[in-house]
Amino acid sequence: MTESALAIVILAAGKGSRMKSNMPKVLHKVAGLPMLGHVIKTAEALSPQKIVIVAAPDHVETFRPYTGAHEIVVQDQQLGTGHAVRCAESALKNFNGDVLVLYGDVPLMNHHILSNFIQDKRKHHAKLSVMGFEPYNPYGFGRLWMANDDLLGIIEQKDLTPEQEHIKKCNTGIMCVDSALLWELLTNLKNNNSQNEYYLTDIAAAVCERKLPRRVFHLDHSMYATGVNSRADLSEAERLFQMNARWDLMLSGVTLQDANSVHFYHDTQIAEDVTIGANVVFGPGVVVESGAEILPFSHLEGCTVKTGARIGPFARIRPGSVIGKNARIGNFVEIKNTQMAEGAKANHLSYIGDASVGTDANIGAGTITCNYDGIKKSKTEIGAGAFIGSNSALIAPVKIGDGAMVAAGSVITKNVEPGALGLARGGQKNIANWAKEFFSKGKS
Ligand code: UD1
Ligand code: CA
Repeated sequence: MTESALAIVILAAGKGSRMKSNMPKVLHKVAGLPMLGHVIKTAEALSPQKIVIVAAPDHVETFRPYTGAHEIVVQDQQLGTGHAVRCAESALKNFNGDVLVLYGDVPLMNHHILSNFIQDKRKHHAKLSVMGFEPYNPYGFGRLWMANDDLLGIIEQKDLTPEQEHIKKCNTGIMCVDSALLWELLTNLKNNNSQNEYYLTDIAAAVCERKLPRRVFHLDHSMYATGVNSRADLSEAERLFQMNARWDLMLSGVTLQDANSVHFYHDTQIAEDVTIGANVVFGPGVVVESGAEILPFSHLEGCTVKTGARIGPFARIRPGSVIGKNARIGNFVEIKNTQMAEGAKANHLSYIGDASVGTDANIGAGTITCNYDGIKKSKTEIGAGAFIGSNSALIAPVKIGDGAMVAAGSVITKNVEPGALGLARGGQKNIANWAKEFFSKGKS
């Protein structure tokens, strides 16, 4: 056995009945990523020899998109967390070392804490280590039954005696155990408790009985151990994730003018010296480069916003869009699958979809790229320095050349050559005194 051998078992087979949902509990999302995805990401960051996920039989396929190449083992019946870990034994039969058990419903734990936890176990030559914490409200958590610093056992909420209800130290659910000992102790588990389940937590008392070295590692910030059993817990996990993301970004040099109203996705990437106004929401896959500014009430997904660009207020940037260096997207502008080159502008009330907009081009208020004919989508190409007059409809596929102009109110169906004017609107006729006579008749 090498000192550093590590395998991780993620428990995700529970019924999750308290969620009142047809969807497996661990697929409920925090910042857009299923809880199981968060836990797998954290597990991967520890670079273990193996990650094994324990799933209920009918959830295996729905888990696959999040589990990558990791092995999924099936727990046929949900007989408790101890039974669930036992289901991973055959997948780890050639493994010797530390087995870290993570619960799929504890999504905020991070790999720095876990790494310290594992190092602490190894440093103290413990056979078993449990991560403990003191939540504000311990109700529902297993309690750590301790004598001074010595762990005697873990008692589940439903099995507490009235005196034990006062114990404040709780079990995060995260445990690290020597593999050989783990499999042996699990074989001996009994289910003579109030829930008739095989509790993983009972191995703590067994280790104590055998007088084997054990540890409790104390987690100072209880938020990282937030467990999700209900929709109320899920919303709390989301709140804490967002709070953390805001702090991390502000510490890395991002200005949030009203931090609590900005919502991030788990994969949002924002560089230094970006300023974000109030009520901005980030969907999946957004990258914002340094010096860009996102004004209030904007919604962004699947896009890159380059250095110095300014978005909003009230702008919507949809997937496949790149907003170039120093470009401007103003109020009530929707951009979809469009490349706006450096310095390009669409400042007011426009829909620009499936388009490319050249350097320094200007899109007037009310411009619409008519990209969809009811059957297929087509592209609009707008050249560098082009000027699109207000309230124009550009019927795709169509090209507006470099430096060309489109007259306001035009419906453009044919390409406009570079440097040319595209004018496609009814001619104007003025009839002298017509209005004056009309109004004077009306009044008599
Ligand atoms: C568990 C712990 C408790 C701890 C708390 C921390 C036990 C017995 N109790 O309680 O000490 O304070 O987590 O959040 O371990 N699961 C399976 N198969 C099963 C049962 C559960 O895979 O047969 C999975 C669930 O999907 C879940 C995890 O194990 O991801 C924990 O199960 P859950 O029923 O939520 O345990 P808690 O009551 O929260
Ligand atoms: Ca739980």
